[in-house]
Amino acid sequence: MERSCKDVQGGRESDRCHESTPLLAAWWTYLSFAILMMFGYLRDFIRRIGLETKHSALEQNRMKDFVPLYSSFDGFYAKNIFKRLSHCYGRPICSPPTAEVDVLERTSYDENCHFRLTGKKRRCINLASFNYLDFVGNEGPCVEATAHALQQYGVGVCSTRQELGNCSIHEELEKTTARFLGVDDAVTFGMGFCTNSLNIPVLVGGKGCLLLSDEKNHASIVLGARLSGSVIKVFKHNDIDDLEEKLRGAITSGRPRTHWPWRKILIIVEGIYSMEGSIVKLLDVVRLKNKYGAYLYLDEAHSMGALGRTGRGVTEYWGVGPRDVDIMMGTFTKSFGAFGGYIAGSKRLINHLRAYSYSTTYACSMSAPVAQQIISSMKIIMGEDGTNTGKLRIMRLATNVRYFRQRLRAMGFIVYGDDNSAVVPLLVFVPGKAQAIMEELFERNIACVAGIFPATSITTGRIRIFISAAHTREMLDTVLSSISEVGDRLQLKYSL
Ligand SMILES: Cc1ncc(COP(=O)(O)O)c(C=O)c1O
Ligand SMILES: *[C@@H]1O[C@H](CO)[C@@H](O)[C@H](O)[C@H]1NC(C)=O
Repeated sequence: MERSCKDVQGGRESDRCHESTPLLAAWWTYLSFAILMMFGYLRDFIRRIGLETKHSALEQNRMKDFVPLYSSFDGFYAKNIFKRLSHCYGRPICSPPTAEVDVLERTSYDENCHFRLTGKKRRCINLASFNYLDFVGNEGPCVEATAHALQQYGVGVCSTRQELGNCSIHEELEKTTARFLGVDDAVTFGMGFCTNSLNIPVLVGGKGCLLLSDEKNHASIVLGARLSGSVIKVFKHNDIDDLEEKLRGAITSGRPRTHWPWRKILIIVEGIYSMEGSIVKLLDVVRLKNKYGAYLYLDEAHSMGALGRTGRGVTEYWGVGPRDVDIMMGTFTKSFGAFGGYIAGSKRLINHLRAYSYSTTYACSMSAPVAQQIISSMKIIMGEDGTNTGKLRIMRLATNVRYFRQRLRAMGFIVYGDDNSAVVPLLVFVPGKAQAIMEELFERNIACVAGIFPATSITTGRIRIFISAAHTREMLDTVLSSISEVGDRLQLKYSL
């Protein structure tokens, strides 16, 4: 009898905490959006009949010779809804995004069309960077090694791997990555987003291939899936029964019209979902892929380094062998504090990607200092630097995550996701409250960012907090008491 995720967790469902939206909150949310939309249409109408202010008339005139950047709804949304809270987004920072970050203050004189810096900066506790293992920063052994690589190689490589851009540091990076993950080989790319969007089309393609994609998969996966030209079916988030039903349906009825069998079926999931904080039920997904003869693509952008006893991600967390996953993908932009992405797996897979991927053949290879940052941080996590600081970082992160999540739940907030996930979505539902909580926390020197519709469904607006090993207990306590205070004022403690 094979183990399932439920057995491992002693019968508890890992997604038990995706509580449903309270009815009243849902009501307010729909009402808020309805009012915002109504005023949006009214403002658009006024703009159309030429009653707009002199300033926006000038703006419109300047833009009229350009191709419209957004579809009509995107443009409507950006102009009339997002702009109202855009001062909480894209705030300029002027220090490394460690546990604390310096944020430049700014004001707007034209309702968020333009901003002016006030010249003041504010040191904030940072809840918004993916700095899980505290490898972001401007000092320490990684920075020293990186500075050395910078002196040796310079910043840019100015050629592709296949032309004159194949440095020994790239070889070292790929060998270290494969060793870290416990697989045969790995290939690395200069950008995480492109690792998905440009490599999925090299793995599947054409109408004979079927992609089964989780509904909460990242935009880079969605783009890659669409570029591949395969048939795409979306299954409910982390829902094993729905996945099995879709797999069974695909096997029994085959391709549309001809009913020929599928050439290839690829299941794409993430380790930790970045908007939900949920951990993929990997044991069950692996069981299904074996049962139905499908392939599995696992994106570990947010789980690699941040999950598992030795930071080896979601496979270690569930006790699945890394070789049971056909395609291991991840990025270096989170736990490793660097840039870029990897795909790892069998020699055959990696050789195929090396030869055919657009991002190895047509894109410049990774900057050497960036490669060095990844190598150094990875070696620290593996303990190959001769210290136990890697282990300590992993332990600190795990302790911080459990403490922070438990305290939030105890206060009565609705928090999505698994108790062990460093991505902590705190549900605020109503868009106005999302803006208010960002502003109130910023006033209290805490930087965090909300995700609302269309990044989430209409009724599940949230702030997304990223816990780091760099956060001290005092910082977390400060944050918790501020959130509690603001939560009382904004009536956010929905599960009390
Ligand atoms: C699951 C997932 N995959 C891929 C990416 C893209 O990676 P990058 O930001 O490193 O380009 C992200 C980014 O947040 C992500 O969350
Ligand atoms: C880069 O160099 C290494 C070591 O010399 C070699 O094994 C590898 O095949 C080269 N890569 C490419 C893409 O040519």
